[in-house]
Amino acid sequence: MVERILIDETTTTSSEIVIGRFGTAPEVSVVLAPRPSRQRVALLTHDGATRVAARIEDELRRAGLTVATRQLPDREAAKTLQTAEATFLWLNDLGMTRDDTIVAVGGGALTDAAGFIAATYLRGVEVVLVPTTLLGAVDAAVGGKTAVNVGGKNLAGVFRHPERVVVDLDVLDGLPRPLLIEGTAEAVKAGLIADPVLVDLYEHAGLDAALDEVVPRAMRVKAAVVSGDFREGGHRAILNYGHTVGHAIETATGIPHGHAVAVGMVAAGAAAESAVGFAGAQRQRRLLEALALPVAAPAVERQELHRLMALDKKRDRSGIRMVLLRDIAEPTVVTVDAATVDAALDAIGVA
Ligand SMILES: NC(=O)c1ccc[n+]([C@@H]2O[C@H](COP(=O)([O-])OP(=O)(O)OC[C@H]3O[C@@H](n4cnc5c(N)ncnc54)[C@H](O)[C@@H]3O)[C@@H](O)[C@H]2O)c1
Ligand SMILES: [Zn+2]
Repeated sequence: MVERILIDETTTTSSEIVIGRFGTAPEVSVVLAPRPSRQRVALLTHDGATRVAARIEDELRRAGLTVATRQLPDREAAKTLQTAEATFLWLNDLGMTRDDTIVAVGGGALTDAAGFIAATYLRGVEVVLVPTTLLGAVDAAVGGKTAVNVGGKNLAGVFRHPERVVVDLDVLDGLPRPLLIEGTAEAVKAGLIADPVLVDLYEHAGLDAALDEVVPRAMRVKAAVVSGDFREGGHRAILNYGHTVGHAIETATGIPHGHAVAVGMVAAGAAAESAVGFAGAQRQRRLLEALALPVAAPAVERQELHRLMALDKKRDRSGIRMVLLRDIAEPTVVTVDAATVDAALDAIGVA
């Protein structure tokens, strides 16, 4: 099964998403669009993805390309200017030109860093992202946001779609359970904001939901939203469902992002119940619990969350903005009053 989703992006490049089951490795034609002037491929990868990267490297070599692989530091350590600089120098030593291609194989941290490097090396070379985590596939690799952390997380970056995103469901099927659960938070979020069938799938099958169904659906949601609003002027904000309270909890307590988003969605559910009459808050909570996601905040002070939410860059001048659901797949972005924020924090057990 191979799914192709086309994102139309008139102001920069267009971007193609290819989803399939590729056994040992995707063929060259799946990874790269034909381009006779391309001679070299620089593969960037990190710890959890080295085996997948090695197989892709073999495949590209057999097709006659000159391939070099570089392992970036794991997790957020990849997303630094120092790593970017060292990689620019390495690319230059390889003789990489604008006709050549960077292929990034790894989780969201790796693809964010590689996307930034590819967007800025020689003012931009072709980049193909091969996300190897569920979160990377359904969220980080799609949408053209690249970044490094400079003091603040994702403080510096550019918007630029990858030319292609290649998702191998055989790789995702082998994910360790914690990584599966983290990615599931963002996948179920896609369903809650835009795809009731995806919500049904998770309600029926829980964490056993077939990735062949889940991944294309969640990626289609993200692709559709960013196609309509590449630079996050308006509609793209719905992707931040669960993230207003979620980010604050993540920053205050250090719990994993997917967990924080799940708790944030429970908070948003209660806020929506109080502010826009959402009737699905309990249903959402049960679903997240069934997916082994947390539905209550760890010990954290209410005041601290208020402070962090006020700092959040998505805030507008008049108050805290949240994505709320009127119904499943009917999101709305509203500036919420203090009583609504209180209802949200009450629901997740913040004292
Ligand atoms: N650009 C965006 O729009 C966007 C959206 C969401 C998240 N992000 C970014 O994504 C990052 C988080 O991504 P993540 O959750 O994939 O984390 P990650 O990239 O840090 O990877 C987590 C761990 O999984 C390992 N790993 C990767 N593939 C594996 C596999 N197949 N099997 C086993 N282990 C594997 C990695 O080596 C790492 O240790 C954050 O930096 C976040 O800012 C970006
Ligand atoms: Zn997120």
